[in-house]
Amino acid sequence: MDAHDRLVQDGRCPPDPFALLRLWAPADDDPERPLATLATVDADGLPDARTVVLTSVGDDAVTFHTDARSRKADQLRAHPRAALVVRWAERERQVVLRGAAAEVSTEACRAVFARQSRYLQLLAWLNTPELAALPRAERERRWAAFDASHPVLEPPPTWAGFAVRPVDVLFWEGTGDGPSRRVRYRRSARGWTQEALPG
Ligand SMILES: Cc1cc2nc3c(=O)[nH]c(=O)nc-3n(C[C@H](O)[C@H](O)[C@H](O)COP(=O)(O)O)c2cc1C
Repeated sequence: MDAHDRLVQDGRCPPDPFALLRLWAPADDDPERPLATLATVDADGLPDARTVVLTSVGDDAVTFHTDARSRKADQLRAHPRAALVVRWAERERQVVLRGAAAEVSTEACRAVFARQSRYLQLLAWLNTPELAALPRAERERRWAAFDASHPVLEPPPTWAGFAVRPVDVLFWEGTGDGPSRRVRYRRSARGWTQEALPG
């Protein structure tokens, strides 16, 4: 058990869930990014979900990036509420965050784009319905041609970031073959409250 485990297991959780989340998540400039399941609702109230990369963990919100023309972006503009489930299977950890989602500034998007891998930068430009409709060999040919002719890439105008500012953050931690445990943080007018829950 390391120091981070004890924070949860011994009930000595920091008063702010983001202090704990930053202990669990890698630093924003770490290329090993956590994956999250992002849940939204569509126009009929039907839940939708998909995997995204968690691009940053701030003081009060977590951020992911996507194509501004995507279904999730449309859904969030119509119903700016989201849930994110982040799981670290090898460490027996999960965090669920629920709250309001808002688009982040173009400047903040540029800074994140600059630290994306070359592959993800290319994908941000080339993830189009037109390319997706082509046979694989042609898609690869166009990808390679675009790559060769664009040694330095700025973010495409379609690249968007969304920050989810949670009202509720639920940390789950397993203990191998012992009891699992959760710590639930809720945002109130006076700050964060926390309670221990069974796993
Ligand atoms: C491992 C993995 C990571 C992904 N990361 C992202 C991401 O960071 N942003 C994104 O828009 N889509 C990402 N995707 C693709 C989405 O899961 C999804 O298929 C796509 O964004 C379209 O979703 P939508 O139609 O619900 O908007 C990822 C998929 C996988 C499997």
